Parts: sequence; C-alpha cells; structure tokens
Amino acid sequence: MNDRNTSDLLIQVALHAEALPIIRLLSLHPIGRLDSNLPSELWQGSVHGHRITIVTHGRDCEFDCDRIGTESATIVAFLALRMMRPKLFINAGTCGGFATQGAAIGDIYMPTRFLFHDQRVALPKFDAFAVADRTTSDFPAIRAAANAKHGTCSTGSSLDTTVHEIAFFAAESVTCKDMEAAAIVRVAVDLETPFAALKVVTDLVDHRQAVQESFQRNLEFATDRLAHAVDHAARVFSAA
Ligand code: ADE
Repeated sequence: MNDRNTSDLLIQVALHAEALPIIRLLSLHPIGRLDSNLPSELWQGSVHGHRITIVTHGRDCEFDCDRIGTESATIVAFLALRMMRPKLFINAGTCGGFATQGAAIGDIYMPTRFLFHDQRVALPKFDAFAVADRTTSDFPAIRAAANAKHGTCSTGSSLDTTVHEIAFFAAESVTCKDMEAAAIVRVAVDLETPFAALKVVTDLVDHRQAVQESFQRNLEFATDRLAHAVDHAARVFSAA
C-alpha cells in the first residue's frame, strides 16, 4: 500500500476556510484528491513522527462553493477512513453555540454526545434511528490540551434554526449546532474508529443577530482558535 494512503490521525474538515489555518499551523502539504470522482482534497504532514492527514469536502464546481453538509460528510468520512485506517479520527469545524449554555464566540467544544435535529420520522424505531442519539468516548488529555468544553452536538442541514429546533435544543441541552458531526459519527461507528470532535463557536443560535452575519464576521477569528486547538490536540495525540 502507498505510504500516502495511511495516517495515524485523520482530521475531517468541511470548509477549506476552516482547514487552512490548521494546514498552515501543522505545516501540512497538499497530496491531491481523496477520490478522482469527488472534489475532496487531502493534506499531509507529520508531528513527532506520526502521520497526520486533513481531508476537506472540496469545492462543488457546479454551485461554486464548498460541499458542506451531511451527504459529503458521509461519503468523505467513509472513503477517507477506509483508505487511511487512522488510530484517531477528528471532525474539526465551526458550530453555532448557545449563550444560555454559557457559550461565547471562539469557545472550543469537544462534544461527546451527537444527535440529528432535523430528521423527524414518527414511526417506531425509525424515530430513534433518525435522531441517532449517540455518545462517543472522551479523550481527557486531548480535551485538556485543546482547552475544550464538554457538550452535546446536534447536526442538521440548515444554517438557520426553526422554532421546532429551538425547542429540541433546549430539551436536549444542545451546546453545538453544526452540519456534519452526527453523520460522521455514524461512519466512525460503522468503521470502528475512535472519534473526537473539535468545534469552535462562530455564532450564537439564541442571539437575535442573523447567523450568516455572525458566521462571516467571526469566521477568521474562530478558525484561528480552532487551528490552535487542533494543533495542541495533534501534539498530545502524537506524544502518546
Ligand atoms: N456552523 C457554524 N455556525 C452554524 C450554525 N449556526 N448552524 C449550523 N452550522 C454552523
């Protein structure tokens, strides 16, 4: 097997803008596409002799934007895990936080509970499958290095929030709202790979400011904070 096709630590990041500060801080270099039929891209490097790979979802040439969301998250996670067989799989990215849960812009979370908030199927068993409430392992050394808060991450396919979802978030004590993590967890479970999420808050879901304004204004600051959290996590992982 080609050396490029294995990695000790695999980090999945949806947006190029989220990945770039991490790529720079870890001095990773581009190694091409994950798959010739997908825009997903790979960067690699090493920390303390451990190979580290970042995989992004890549740019959709038809709609001229990055392929955010659960569909790309699932296929990229599956192909990248199958290829790289990492010892640890991290999903790093941005999220909406909640002032009522004590969040501030730039806070880092390492949630260990994951749900879907916009999959509603009122049929026996399918209802639980749709919400997919799962708890993953904690990694206290990585949490401490990343200075990350505990929490629950809920995944959906929209940046904005419905009234139904606000009630769901309150009932489930959700701390992070994102568009990928629960889908990636499902793949990590299927491929029996230890999983952690590192999420940085770009906007507050329970604040009156429009999410798209906060997201765009805070993206650079937040992704810089995320890069440092991932860098610390990668160093702790590689030193173990
Ligand atoms: N990523 C950053 N902020 C988000 C939000 N409010 N909802 C979903 N994904 C996000």
